[in-house]
Amino acid sequence: MTASSNKYSANDPAFDAEHGVLKNMLGLTSEAALLHAESEALIAAYEEAALGYSELHTFTADDVCRLHKLFLGGIFEWAGMYRTIDISSPGIRWCHAQYIDQEMARFDTLLRAATPLSPNLPHDEIITKVAEIHGEFIAIHPFRDGNGRTGRMLANLMLMQAECPPFRMELFDTAEMQEKYFAAIRDVWANVDYTKLTRLFAELVPKP
Ligand SMILES: Nc1ncnc2c1ncn2[C@@H]1O[C@H](COP(=O)(O)OP(=O)(O)OP(=O)(O)O)[C@@H](O)[C@H]1O
Ligand SMILES: [Mg+2]
Repeated sequence: MTASSNKYSANDPAFDAEHGVLKNMLGLTSEAALLHAESEALIAAYEEAALGYSELHTFTADDVCRLHKLFLGGIFEWAGMYRTIDISSPGIRWCHAQYIDQEMARFDTLLRAATPLSPNLPHDEIITKVAEIHGEFIAIHPFRDGNGRTGRMLANLMLMQAECPPFRMELFDTAEMQEKYFAAIRDVWANVDYTKLTRLFAELVPKP
């Protein structure tokens, strides 16, 4: 039987059921402390990634693993490695673990074709490409956790290549925006339709 788990299931060996958090190398047992550590790690990862990837870099699936490890490598042993269990979020079952390798090979081809993202492209086209890459990545959901933040970091790195401003993250934080974002992701996942996600990203990334 395939191991199947909700995002935070008690059957998952990566999950600390006693404290209700993912087991971590820092020994943190509160969700707030873990989120705080992750936020600091994310900022450091952004700094390193922004310095490390040039505007001429062709991104690959290996880079995505590197970004995930840069972000969570000091916190989770599985950082940078694809998950081996099935997980779901409300209303969504993410890609079966056994198909992640092949789905990420397909994603690698898409990502190589889309990057480096040229500043000479029309703004609409830049946003469309970033939305398609982000939607595809989230639909695969290759990691045990941290897919959203890693995917948005990749999207911001692509925007940087295209000389666009980064996402206006403060808009991302409202409940209304999150519901719009989730609905857009569900449309990619269920219908392979990127329209809503592209429209949302256009709102979040004003023309330079
Ligand atoms: N109910 C849902 N409907 C649509 N998409 C969802 C839903 N729940 C999660 N997602 C997508 O999955 C991402 C969360 O995945 P994951 O928990 O692996 O990433 P994270 O970085 O830990 O979380 P977050 O993005 O919330 O900071 C969200 O950012 C969103 O893209
Ligand atoms: Mg998460």
